[in-house]
Amino acid sequence: MIFKKNILCIGAGYVGGPTMAMIAYKCPQHRVTVVDINPSRIAEWNSDDLPIYEPGLDEIVRATRGKNLFFSTDIEGGIRDNDIIFVSVNTPTKTFGAGAGMAADLQYWEKTARQILQYSQSSKIVVEKSTLPVKTALAMEKILNYTKSSVSFDILSNPEFLAEGSAINDLDNPDRILIGCRETESGYAARETLVEIYANWVPREKIITSNIWSSELSKIVSNAFLAQRISSINAISALCEKTDADITEVSRAVGMDSRIGSKYLSASVGFGGSCFKKDILNLVYLCQHYGLHEVADYWENVVRINQYQQERFILNMLTTMFNTLAGKKICLFGFAFKANTSDTRESPAIYITKRLLEEKAEIVITDPKALKNAKADLAGVEGKVSFVEDPYKAVEGCHAIAVLTEWDVYRNLDFQKIFSTMTKPASIFDGRNIIDHKRCFDIGFNVYPTGKPALTHT
Ligand SMILES: NC(=O)c1ccc[n+]([C@@H]2O[C@H](COP(=O)([O-])OP(=O)(O)OC[C@H]3O[C@@H](n4cnc5c(N)ncnc54)[C@H](O)[C@@H]3O)[C@@H](O)[C@H]2O)c1
Repeated sequence: MIFKKNILCIGAGYVGGPTMAMIAYKCPQHRVTVVDINPSRIAEWNSDDLPIYEPGLDEIVRATRGKNLFFSTDIEGGIRDNDIIFVSVNTPTKTFGAGAGMAADLQYWEKTARQILQYSQSSKIVVEKSTLPVKTALAMEKILNYTKSSVSFDILSNPEFLAEGSAINDLDNPDRILIGCRETESGYAARETLVEIYANWVPREKIITSNIWSSELSKIVSNAFLAQRISSINAISALCEKTDADITEVSRAVGMDSRIGSKYLSASVGFGGSCFKKDILNLVYLCQHYGLHEVADYWENVVRINQYQQERFILNMLTTMFNTLAGKKICLFGFAFKANTSDTRESPAIYITKRLLEEKAEIVITDPKALKNAKADLAGVEGKVSFVEDPYKAVEGCHAIAVLTEWDVYRNLDFQKIFSTMTKPASIFDGRNIIDHKRCFDIGFNVYPTGKPALTHT
């Protein structure tokens, strides 16, 4: 079959895999190839056991793989044979040198840019899919257009707004697609090419365009605003616990104001995931770089409150369990950073596990999808940790349950049965406010929700 366009994505991760699968699914006329330096990841994408769990992903990969969707380790051939190249490599927080702990580590990004230059034999459109600091496209242009050859490169910014756990639905029905370009004739032409691809399934009015710097910045700001809402409601949850106000009631009342809106107002143990913290710190670093110290401080506090919320959760467990956790068995319900994903990157569960181990508690972790990643995250960590898939088995003999992920399965467990096998007094610390607190209290648990009065028998 002759395909109309040949599209490449460099980076077969949480973004590259699902976004390209969706493009292949919606555009059978185009050929989509995803490449990665990690051969085992590519092997998993080519197997029945995909490297990431995402509801609906298996189906669209099965429908397209081998037809117009291909996963490969041949980066050189991929660059040579494709006209549109998405770059979706990881951009973690820098851990060394200037800007360590804040700035984005762009080494993978730059390496990719150099590979594109090295292997290209014809002109390309290069699309920034990774989340990048504003002005990265300028660096990309400098690398790609360093040698004045007949091969030219147009750089577009097309940040990805999907949320893990609902990625397939987000890709199928996005709130918006943002495409930023250089304001030149070839920049506009490149942008139109990308608009045409998305227009295969996204209504035109949802495909918005901007200059390239606005596009780069919008993604980071979007994540900063989302994280800010979580930190705002979590900060108020601390006040609710001191005043007998109920955070769910406060959220409902506040969220019904149409200027505020009701989404993202659930108090919790804190946000996780690979993006929020890194993107805010990146924003903080950018502000500092431009001498905007007050702005930097403002955003840095969003991260501080998130840390505070997790530490508060630990201290609440410690003080309510007679100021010692040593030798006590605590079961963590959920390790993924949110429901419906196997991703545990920056999950509050990692920090909480390590802190509980410092208190010499014994930890039992249960999670429907994330145990493999949990084991990897905790490899080499000292202390007693076990991993048990069945929550009923996991709680046996435990003194407390800490609900850390809002998996649906935890809402409707038989808590009477659970209570009967636990050590008494048995406590539940609900870091997601998803279980029926009153019912669990009536069964005999001491219940500690987030941002609501505790229900205790003592
Ligand atoms: N995870 C999300 O929910 C999400 C959402 C929106 C945007 N983003 C952004 O998208 C980008 C990718 O995130 P992710 O979660 O998919 O990361 P990831 O770590 O899951 O995937 C990145 C992949 O890139 C590969 N890679 C790195 N350097 C490479 C190279 N030189 N050549 C080929 N492959 C290379 C890695 O092996 C890895 O498989 C980041 O900038 C992130 O901020 C992530």
